[in-house]
Amino acid sequence: MKIITNSPEETVKLGQKLGRHLKAGDVLGLIGELGSGKTTLVRGMASGLGVTGREAVASPSFVLIREYSGKVPLFHFDLYRLDKIKDIEYLGVDEYLFDKGVCVVEWAEKMKMLLPDYLEVDLALKGETKREIKFIAHNKRYEDFIARYLK
Ligand SMILES: Nc1ncnc2c1ncn2[C@@H]1O[C@H](COP(=O)(O)OP(=O)(O)O)[C@@H](O)[C@H]1O
Ligand SMILES: [Mg+2]
Repeated sequence: MKIITNSPEETVKLGQKLGRHLKAGDVLGLIGELGSGKTTLVRGMASGLGVTGREAVASPSFVLIREYSGKVPLFHFDLYRLDKIKDIEYLGVDEYLFDKGVCVVEWAEKMKMLLPDYLEVDLALKGETKREIKFIAHNKRYEDFIARYLK
């Protein structure tokens, strides 16, 4: 499943659509170079999940995980600065966290082996304002999700 967006606003809209249908326990793994639109997509997801707090969704600078409260909590991981898998173990990221809300992980490839089943989202720069966003399901839940909400 591949979607092209032609502006940041379109990527936010796509994120909103995702956010409206995600539920606690869902995990999204975002993979893509700097500037490919990962955080922009998360911003849309937060909005779709009903996050209204003053806290803007941004790239966490030194914190690796942020929590936003919406209809269900949104846990936003940004592993950009993570270089050793040990670091993630120090974070105490444990299976329990994943069931408490929706989790979205930027640079998910860095903790692939520690993630429960996740919906993979590959983002690529295709031009100044053009992004290619691919959704890859690794299980039935996400296959159904894509078929129902993204097609
Ligand atoms: N179609 C698009 N989708 C998402 N971002 C876009 C798009 N076109 C341009 N941009 C710009 O690209 C940048 C994406 O940044 P960001 O979402 O922080 O990426 P990442 O988290 O992957 O590093 C932003 O400055 C955004 O305005
Ligand atoms: Mg980012």
